Amino acid sequence: MTILRLPSLVDAHVHVREPGYEHKEDFYSGTVAALAGGVVTILDMPNTVPPTDTPARLLAKARLAQAKVVCDVGLFVGATTTELDAYLPVAQAACGLKIYVSDTFGSLRIESLDLLHRFFRSWAECAAAHGGYRSQGIAEGIGPIAVHAEELMLPVCLALANLHGTPLHVVHVSRRSEIELIRKAKEQGYAVTCEATPHHLFLTAEDAARLGPRGDMRPRLVTADDVAALWENMAYIDLIATDHAPHTLQEKQSQEAAPPPGVPGVETLLPLLLTAVHEERLTLEDVVERCAFAPRRIYGIDEPEDSYIEVDVDAEFTVRDEAMLTRVKWTPFAGRRVRGRVERVVLRGNEVFADGQLLAAPGSGRVLFGAADGI
Ligand code: DOR
Ligand code: ZN
Repeated sequence: MTILRLPSLVDAHVHVREPGYEHKEDFYSGTVAALAGGVVTILDMPNTVPPTDTPARLLAKARLAQAKVVCDVGLFVGATTTELDAYLPVAQAACGLKIYVSDTFGSLRIESLDLLHRFFRSWAECAAAHGGYRSQGIAEGIGPIAVHAEELMLPVCLALANLHGTPLHVVHVSRRSEIELIRKAKEQGYAVTCEATPHHLFLTAEDAARLGPRGDMRPRLVTADDVAALWENMAYIDLIATDHAPHTLQEKQSQEAAPPPGVPGVETLLPLLLTAVHEERLTLEDVVERCAFAPRRIYGIDEPEDSYIEVDVDAEFTVRDEAMLTRVKWTPFAGRRVRGRVERVVLRGNEVFADGQLLAAPGSGRVLFGAADGI
């Protein structure tokens, strides 16, 4: 047994599902699952029902969260076709603006250049009014634009962000063509950062065939060559986030309705990455940089004081559906042997998770950026 103490982790891409889909996950079950994974800060996506696209909806979501969370949570606002720019008055209360321009779950997809351009322009104007962006060290500023932009939509978003000087964060990069373009943009000085998910790093289209609906998500699992490209370009992947997107197994296996894409992930993030460390595919520093320091820098989130996790890096175990604390109780990694168990999580001096047990009370986590305080 070798216990290592690591900084507390951030998962910068989580779909908590509240309001609207509490049967999949809510702010309690989602944050309990996060703590079990050694994650003390999650960033929650806006594709709920209703979506997080107006000041009132952000406030309502923040209040739901504040009553239930056992870890810290930042909330994205989302671009929608119906509430154009409505979120701007509360941009500072959000961790960033999420724009979906590729196929996804829910109704938030933006398909016109006119609208997309407008969102970049107005976010840049909003940043100027607040002195800039948090990622540039401006505490009073706003967060980045995070885009789900696959294939040809990626250069569109890179161009718009560059034209407006908006820091762009590209979520779940999966293909060789995409990471190579991002690498080139970074080399040219574009203000672009990106993330990869564990499922795109550790699974391929072959696994998708084996997993059936449990291996279906957007972006889809891709070829072994695409996966190899992510590993070759790890230096250009700023952070690793899970895109924790729970749907029930019943929904995933439904024959009547089209099964929703998405897989849970917040609990398996660290064991998968520590296994890669054991196999010498990553260093421990790579993991801490991508799951703690980089997300805090990119989104401007201070490290909570006196917070850390303890992991037994020797503990070897098989990932099991039944062991998951997410409400949906399954994982695409079931059956995989991994190394690295979260033993203890300390948040602001309090032991919040230890030996598989939750020790924190609902509401003891914080909603970041004052979102629950109103405007
Ligand atoms: O697989 C996915 N699921 N991709 C997305 O972009 C959204 C997510 C969800 O919300 O279920
Ligand atoms: Zn997502």
